[in-house]
Amino acid sequence: MMTSIGKMVGALACVGLLVAVALYQAPSQDVSKQEKKQEAPKDVKKDAPVDDGKLAFVIKPYLQFPTRDSITIMWETNKPAKGKIEYSEKTPLTEKAEVSEAKDLHEITLKNLKPSTPYVYKVSVLTDEGEKLETKYLNFMTAVGPDEAYSFGIIGDTQANAKVTGQIAAHLFERRPHFVVHCGDVVDDGRSKRMWVHELFGPCSELFSYAAVFPTIGNHERNHANYYKYFSLPKPKYYYQYSYGNADFFVIDSNKSLKPGTEQYMWLEKALSESKAKWKFAYHHHPGWSSDADDYGKSWEGKSVWGDMNARNLVTLYEKYNLDIAFNGHIHLYERTWPLRGNKVDRATGVHYITSGGGGGSLEVVANLPSWFKSQCRTDFHYCYVVIHQGRLEFKVYDVKGNLFDSFELNK
Ligand SMILES: [Fe+2]
Ligand SMILES: [Fe+2]
Repeated sequence: MMTSIGKMVGALACVGLLVAVALYQAPSQDVSKQEKKQEAPKDVKKDAPVDDGKLAFVIKPYLQFPTRDSITIMWETNKPAKGKIEYSEKTPLTEKAEVSEAKDLHEITLKNLKPSTPYVYKVSVLTDEGEKLETKYLNFMTAVGPDEAYSFGIIGDTQANAKVTGQIAAHLFERRPHFVVHCGDVVDDGRSKRMWVHELFGPCSELFSYAAVFPTIGNHERNHANYYKYFSLPKPKYYYQYSYGNADFFVIDSNKSLKPGTEQYMWLEKALSESKAKWKFAYHHHPGWSSDADDYGKSWEGKSVWGDMNARNLVTLYEKYNLDIAFNGHIHLYERTWPLRGNKVDRATGVHYITSGGGGGSLEVVANLPSWFKSQCRTDFHYCYVVIHQGRLEFKVYDVKGNLFDSFELNK
């Protein structure tokens, strides 16, 4: 029979065991399973969108690549149809652009627009058999000038979670961004049309019909033709540059080698050296710095290299040309580093790195102990919202319920 002291010791041992179990975290196994699950091949044959035979938008009209005087509008119908865009600054719509050839995937660029100007537009389609379909009035806006205020949203890793992606898109749309940056893994399997239709363009249709999305390619797109088909980007498309307001954005494919001497490295060095923009931002899917628990080595065994070593190649250029912020995805959580330079925190001249991979993909885990560069992190679905006026930048991050959980400002 156990004495009362014996019972007490036994109880304490049990409590100790429970505490130890509660404190022990094994993110590696869980996260690897999630990643393997995401990487598993999908049955692409059963991915055809539902079609009841009536003319319908498979993908509703969405905006691409706004400049000061042009914008591209794309959409897809379930059967070949001629497409028309009517547009002007106000109704009744007085301008039109149309394509006489009947087709499924439409891409029309409107040119000679006024800069920094809101427009009303409407898309209509007509089959050879006389079936018609048209949208309600929608709106787009041409890019603003260098002295004007503007805003953009950042989302990443909108993978296989239409519900959360839809919530994120709806909250971001409430803030009325001028455009949207997507940090890659736009779908869970780039080969699956169902995912493009129902897990990206479907949940984001309202947002993307008013605010153009500028994507970078992740690993889950599998470099599939769908990425190049659905996004209208300047050649060679896997990397490109655009300007908006007083900022230059450099978009890079981090699935390819980024070592010095590679095509993208040399392009980026030239583009950064020639940039006269007040703000310089780069984005690519894989993060050069990340406090993730297991993607970059077993952090709990002290073996993490703290980021993607291919993307790390670009740090030299970011520091040399004073990039303001590098945006990344891939790790399904939020992280903001301190400003970094020369492998140290440098608050005066460092580069900020932000991982925003919270658009719907299965969430990942931060290492148990803080990395030397981490400023803020949170494992949660989220989006970022950035506003800029001249030399002032305000950066905010919201969870899926719309709660603010990080913010910072830059002034120059
Ligand atoms: Fe991802
Ligand atoms: Fe990824």
